[in-house]
Amino acid sequence: MKISFAEPALPKTGAVVVGVLEESKLTESAADLDKRTGGSLRRAIAASRFTGKKDELLAVLAPANLPLSRIVLAGLGKASAIDAMRMQSLGGGLVAHLNAAGETEAAVLIDAVEGAPPPAECAANLAYGARLRSYRFDRYRTKQKPEQKPTMTRLTVLAADAAAAKRSYQRLDKVADGVFFTRDLVSEPANIIYPETLAEQAKHLEDDGVEVEILDEKKMKKLGMGALLGVAQGSARPPRLAIMQWKGDARSKSAAPLAFLGKGVTFDTGGISIKPAAGMEDMKWDMGGAGVVMGLMKALAGRKAKVNAVGLVGLVENMPSGTAQRPGDIVTSMSGQTIEVLNTDAEGRLVLADVLWYCQDRFKPRLMIDLATLTGAIIVALGHENAGLFANDEELAERLIAAGKAVGEPLWRMPLGEAYDREIDSDAADMKNIGGGRAGGSITAAQFLQRFVNKTPWAHLDIAGTTWSKKDAPTVPKGATAFGVRLLDHFVAQHYES
Ligand code: BES
Ligand code: MN
Ligand code: ZN
Repeated sequence: MKISFAEPALPKTGAVVVGVLEESKLTESAADLDKRTGGSLRRAIAASRFTGKKDELLAVLAPANLPLSRIVLAGLGKASAIDAMRMQSLGGGLVAHLNAAGETEAAVLIDAVEGAPPPAECAANLAYGARLRSYRFDRYRTKQKPEQKPTMTRLTVLAADAAAAKRSYQRLDKVADGVFFTRDLVSEPANIIYPETLAEQAKHLEDDGVEVEILDEKKMKKLGMGALLGVAQGSARPPRLAIMQWKGDARSKSAAPLAFLGKGVTFDTGGISIKPAAGMEDMKWDMGGAGVVMGLMKALAGRKAKVNAVGLVGLVENMPSGTAQRPGDIVTSMSGQTIEVLNTDAEGRLVLADVLWYCQDRFKPRLMIDLATLTGAIIVALGHENAGLFANDEELAERLIAAGKAVGEPLWRMPLGEAYDREIDSDAADMKNIGGGRAGGSITAAQFLQRFVNKTPWAHLDIAGTTWSKKDAPTVPKGATAFGVRLLDHFVAQHYES
C-alpha cells in the first residue's frame, strides 16, 4: 500500500473518508460532501447507529452523482480528545475496514478541528497508523487466492500543509520500518532464524549506518560467559552475541551510550527440564526481546536520532541433547558469580546475566534497559495488556511508564526487594536460577538479573505477555507485535537526544 500526502481536493476515484465528531457533528469536509450528495450522509447517519464516537466507521456506497466508490464516515469522538494516538488508531481501523470491503484506493480528508492538533500532524499520524496496521507476514503462504490478499494499494491523506504532514510522517515511517523489521524477525520460524542467521540479520543494520560486531563461541568462552554458553551447549546451532552501535550524538561519538539488551532464545524447548508439547511452537518467539532491540536500532538509525545507543542481543537455542546442561549443573558467569542451574527452562536469565555484565563492563552506559520474554508468571500477573517493568532507578522507571502510555504500549511497575532476592540464594553456589516455589516468579527472575547490573541505572521489561497477540488491534495485526520499539523510540526522543 502506497501512502502519500496532498492538499485537500475532492478525489475522482475510489473511497473518500471524512470525519464526524461526537453527536454526529459533521466536519467541514463531511458537511460539504453531504451537500453534494443531496443530504445522503445525514440520512445514512440517521438510519444507523453511527454517532461519530472514536473508531466508529460507517460506509455509504456509491453516490449516484459522484465518480466515487464509497464515502466512509470516520468517528473522531470528542474534538478536545483528538490526539496522535487517536489518529493512529483511526488510520489502522480504516485500512482494516477498506481491505475487508475490497477497496483498492482511498483518500482521507483531514479538516482543521478546533481543540485538536493541527491537520498536518493528524494526517501524519493517521498515515502512520494505517501503515502499522497494513503489516502482514505471508512469506510462506504460496497459495493465497486474490480474495485472501489485502486489496488496498493506495492511501492518500489530504490536509492543509501537506508538505508539513509529509515531513512529520517521514520520521514516523522510519519507526514503522523498525517495527516491521522486528515483526518479521519474531514471526520467522526457528528453522530459519537461529543464532547465526539472527546475527546475520543484525549485520544488515550496517546498511542503515549501524556498526555491528558479532561475537562467536570462541570469543565468548574467552570472556568467560559460562552462563550463556551453558544454555547454548545443548544445541547443534552455535550461539552468537550481536553488538550494534548507533553513534548519533551531535556533540560526541564517544559519549556514554544508552544500552538496550535483548533475550534472543531462538527456540526454547526448556532444555532437559523440557516443556510440554502443547503450545511449544510459541517458543519460536522467545527471541522477542532481541527482535525489539534490533528493530529499535533500525528505527534510531533510520531517523538519525541524535543519541549514542548500543544494542546487545544474546542469541542461543535452548535444546535437550547429550551435550545439554543438566539440572544441578553449576556454571560460572562472566561476572565471576556462580549459578546453580536447577531448571534448564529458566534459561533467559542465564543468557542475560552475561550480556548485562559484559555491557556495563565494556560500555559504561548511562543506563541499561533489557527486554525479555522471561516468565510465564508475568502473563499470570498482567495478562497481555501491560508488560512488567522492574527498575533500580525511579526516574528511569517514571520515564519508561510515561513513554509507554504515550505510544499505547503500557508498562506496569513490579517490585524488587531484598526479601525476594534471598529466594535465589543457593546452598551450593552464589545463586540458583529459580526461586524456591512458583510464588513471585517474575520478580525472582528480575532479582536474578539485578545481580548482574552492577551499579548501572537499569530497567527490565518482561514482555512475555505482549510480544505476540492472538487478536487484531487498531495498529497491531495479530501475530508479532514489536511491543517495545515504539515505546523505546519515544523514550529516547523525549529525554536523550542532543
Ligand atoms: N521463555 C519462557 C517464558 C515464556 C513463557 C515466554 C510463556 C512466553 C510465553 C522462559 O524461558 C521460561 O521457560 N520460564 C519459565 C521459568 C520457570 C522455569 C522458573 C516459566 O515461566 O515457566
Ligand atoms: Mn525457558
Ligand atoms: Zn525462554
